[in-house]
Amino acid sequence: MIERRRWRDDFPIRWDEDHYMTRRELARFLTLGSGLLALINALVAAIGLTRQPSAVPARRIAGVEDVPVGGSLLFAFPTRDDPCILVRDETGRFNAFSQVCTHLSCAVVHRPRERAFACPCHQGLFSSDDGRPLAGPPTRRLPRVTLERRGADVVATGIEV
Ligand code: FES
Repeated sequence: MIERRRWRDDFPIRWDEDHYMTRRELARFLTLGSGLLALINALVAAIGLTRQPSAVPARRIAGVEDVPVGGSLLFAFPTRDDPCILVRDETGRFNAFSQVCTHLSCAVVHRPRERAFACPCHQGLFSSDDGRPLAGPPTRRLPRVTLERRGADVVATGIEV
């Protein structure tokens, strides 16, 4: 007597639906798809690592005598849409930073007595010596504009983020 296999009744194979994807095909598709995405990510990372940062052309931003000791001057660098601030400390040394707060992009203002930049939006405070955050919500320093003195001129040469 042939025992009838109950599983055939419980799990019948519908041959008319056999063209659907099998688990093996799905697993192969997912494996190949993931491998392809990993390859593309590696390619993008390699391109990013080998690409040279675009050079910013140096530009005169002020004369040495334009900024009094303890004073500041606003300028834009490297484009007209990038506000920056130049300060001259008590020793006569120049420092320049982006004027855009690293919290939510309000413009910082110079507070010479505190040797700081203050952000009016959420009371953020940055050192005017090195741009590091001193108080308030900002956690990242202000990008520094690198400077050179060329005779009587102060020249911006780049930005350190
Ligand atoms: S935007 Fe400057 S502290 Fe929030």
